[in-house]
Amino acid sequence: MHGWIYLCVRCCLISSTGSSGMSVAKTTVDKLLKGYDIRLRPDFGGSPVIVGMSINIASIDSISEVNMDYTITMYFQQSWRDKRLAYGELNLNLTLDNRVADQLWLPDTYFLNDKKSFLHGVTVKNRMIRLHPDGTVLYGLRITTTAACMMDLRRYPLDEQNCTLEIESYGYTTDDIVFFWQGGDSAVTGVDKLELPQFSIVGIRLVSREVRFTTGSYPRLSLSFKIKRNIGYFILQTYMPSILITILSWVSFWINYDASAARVALGVTTVLTMTTINTHLRETLPKIPYVKAIDVYLMGCFVFVFLALLEYAFVNYVFFGRGPAQQKKINERLNKANNERTRYEEKRLREQVDAYGNILLTTLEMNNEVMPSDVGSSVSDSRNSVMSFDSSGVQFRKPMAPRDGFSHHSLDRSAMRSRANCRLRRRSSKLKLKIPNLSDVSTIDKWSRVIFPITFGFFNLIYWLYYVN
Ligand SMILES: *[C@@H]1O[C@H](CO)[C@@H](O)[C@H](O)[C@H]1NC(C)=O
Ligand SMILES: *[C@@H]1O[C@H](CO)[C@@H](O)[C@H](O)[C@H]1NC(C)=O
Ligand SMILES: *[C@@H]1O[C@H](CO)[C@@H](O)[C@H](O)[C@H]1NC(C)=O
Repeated sequence: MHGWIYLCVRCCLISSTGSSGMSVAKTTVDKLLKGYDIRLRPDFGGSPVIVGMSINIASIDSISEVNMDYTITMYFQQSWRDKRLAYGELNLNLTLDNRVADQLWLPDTYFLNDKKSFLHGVTVKNRMIRLHPDGTVLYGLRITTTAACMMDLRRYPLDEQNCTLEIESYGYTTDDIVFFWQGGDSAVTGVDKLELPQFSIVGIRLVSREVRFTTGSYPRLSLSFKIKRNIGYFILQTYMPSILITILSWVSFWINYDASAARVALGVTTVLTMTTINTHLRETLPKIPYVKAIDVYLMGCFVFVFLALLEYAFVNYVFFGRGPAQQKKINERLNKANNERTRYEEKRLREQVDAYGNILLTTLEMNNEVMPSDVGSSVSDSRNSVMSFDSSGVQFRKPMAPRDGFSHHSLDRSAMRSRANCRLRRRSSKLKLKIPNLSDVSTIDKWSRVIFPITFGFFNLIYWLYYVN
């Protein structure tokens, strides 16, 4: 890195006092490298080499959900003591050219979970060798590595991920080499300067342990970041549009029920928009089998939008469908019955009104007039219908009970008639229950105006309470 310049400056300073400094450095380096066996680790056959590691994170370039990895650029420094490289004659730290690294023993460190890494090579290989008089070697590299980070996206995008960088020795077991984080918790620096577009780093943990394989136990250091996704982007890109589209679908409830074009267009457009939002989101995510938090929300909104469209289908059915057709039939029957009744009433001699307001025909009348049963039923039907539709409640007059003052004939007739009335009333009450009146169509809308927003609010409450904590 700055090594070459550093050495130059140092050497220039030395050579300013005399060219002897330069030659001293040269002879020192010559002496150090002469007879140096790169194949053998320091203290070969003795105690393990203790390698201290420190990392300065330059940047975290990307975190990808699709590939389940992240890319990090860092200054990776290792330092160990190699007694063969100790020199006493110069009280200077010697920063040598990076090519000297090829002539020295280096730890065989590798990143366990990296997919692709490279050492930057512009303008020269970005590595540094610095020797200290006591034989301590500082070896620095600038590396960009893409490391695997398995993410659990169940709570996406309200999730927190834990990405690690595992550092291990490839060949040397713990008998030969030991790793440690140099400087303890301050071994990793530069985290607070990091700017990530979609995440913020919540915590960082350094762990040092040994792992066992069949070939022995190896030292392993791991650096783990806890990263929290920033919800802001998703609020703007997904949640807000979905909420607004859902609200838009309710506009339909305020539009007149016979404006089919407007209401169907609104319903279909909102359903399609929800589908589009869903599709766009899917492109940035891997094809994971489980349901993510955002899926739950979008599906929720989709269901609301879809129900709003169905609500109109229902309103439309009630308005134009079977219900009104039957109402029309009833109206026709009612009119027919009314006509017959008018004709009949013209001919009647007397009339009696009982306490309930029913028109009672006298025995004389009954005997004189040959009353066809269907006329009678039509009359009673008409009365019933009038009553049932005029009265706001479902109150019907009780079937008339035969009374003492009537003759036998009259009793028979009125009993028969009351039975018929009773039957018809029951039937008409059944009809009334089954068929909502025209005004019921707007009742459906009125209820929808209240029920939909309340349910949606409730859905949101549950959703955010569940996922935010
Ligand atoms: C050499 O490096 C060590 C550790 O980095 C430092 O403490 C020391 O001051 C340096 N010596 C000189 C002469 O620069
Ligand atoms: C990340 O996960 C590993 C393994 O489960 C754990 O040891 C480590 O502490 C976690 N990191 C953080 C920052 O929580
Ligand atoms: C439906 O109800 C309205 C008002 O409540 C009423 O004016 C109308 O006549 C009723 N329609 C039928 C077919 O009964």
